[in-house]
Amino acid sequence: MKVLNVIGTRPQYIKLFPVCRELAGNGYENVIVDTGQHYDETLSQVFLEELDIPGVDYDLDVRSGSHGEQTGRMLAEIEDIVEAESPEAVIVYGDTNSTLAAAIATAKLPPRLTHVESGTRSFNRSMPEELNRVMTDHISDVLYAPTERAVENLANEGITDGVVLTGDVMYDAIQWAREYVAESDDAGVLGDLPIEPGAFVLATVHRPRNTDDGERLRRILTVLDEHPLPVVFPAHPRVRKRITELGLDAELGADFHLIEPVGYLDFVRLLDGAQRVATDSGGAQKEAFMLETPCVTLREETEWDETVECGWNRLVGADPHLIREALSENDERPPRPDPFGDGRAAKRIVAALDDD
Ligand code: UD1
Ligand code: UDP
Repeated sequence: MKVLNVIGTRPQYIKLFPVCRELAGNGYENVIVDTGQHYDETLSQVFLEELDIPGVDYDLDVRSGSHGEQTGRMLAEIEDIVEAESPEAVIVYGDTNSTLAAAIATAKLPPRLTHVESGTRSFNRSMPEELNRVMTDHISDVLYAPTERAVENLANEGITDGVVLTGDVMYDAIQWAREYVAESDDAGVLGDLPIEPGAFVLATVHRPRNTDDGERLRRILTVLDEHPLPVVFPAHPRVRKRITELGLDAELGADFHLIEPVGYLDFVRLLDGAQRVATDSGGAQKEAFMLETPCVTLREETEWDETVECGWNRLVGADPHLIREALSENDERPPRPDPFGDGRAAKRIVAALDDD
């Protein structure tokens, strides 16, 4: 059976690799299309290499642009590839413009459209990702839901056919990475920075809501910079550009480590070693939870409410008081529930490809 995967951004390489391993182990013919939405080496190539992803068959090199331009260019190219390859199924991942383009292209063609990370909702339709998720789910044939909450969200929108509760592929991914890092002698990025395990804050920001409004970005960086522990801030190019444009780097202290984006293994080392994570990333919120590092989410809402309800994640937006308070809370947390499954999501995803 031939399966075609479409990816294009940093988190999608990470969601793809457990599925690729499972496809390869079960004799599937596996075609990979990379839209090139992310093209900086630190956001793309590094993951292909470190996660041992088999060769990309089509690199569309679409790069950045307005939503319409970027999505439209991907859509036209993916349609041609799906027609030429005639796979039985197309797998799309997450909620980016690459996801939506591949979904629209496939939905009007014979292959089954299957969506990994289906049913997650922030209920904030001003986020492009929320629109991408809703549209993709409503045209998918098979909806791989990472959590029971995602199944409920789909049911609330009238979608029950084709829904498969799989668990979260990011849990599969991080279990592999955690073991790899634990067995490695290499301290990676932890050895390159003047930080001690358990005594630094890991922070990331890349959402338009936090980067486009300069005052909001300044507030977030200022309150992080005030923290008594060192802060490690691997900067997505979107926020790096804004920091440079606004001259904010000159305002940051010596203990604020504004660094290039790191690879996945280094990010896992940082997540695991941090005393706190402060982020607006969807993936990093979940990964912090999976590694039992308390998270402070720099957004007003999240798709991952399960992590908030049990006390391991706090939603603080860009309010300096709330950020400060959440960062200085004690470390004690109630036992964590296990909403993301058992780390065998990729197996269920691949097994369901064969179901009619
Ligand atoms: C995209 C996704 C977002 C996801 C994020 C993961 C959409 C609408 N957004 O956001 O859901 O959380 O990826 O990281 O699909 N840029 C570079 N080099 C690159 C890529 C981007 O410099 O390799 C800069 C460009 O200035 C670009 C900006 O970052 O305009 C935004 O890139 P884009 O891919 O549009 O969105 P992200 O913010 O990366
Ligand atoms: N990540 C990484 N290096 C970094 C920052 C993030 O490898 O410097 C990984 C992280 O482990 C997670 C994913 O990238 O799996 C999250 O991507 P991002 O925050 O860009 O997107 P989102 O999850 O918000 O869509």
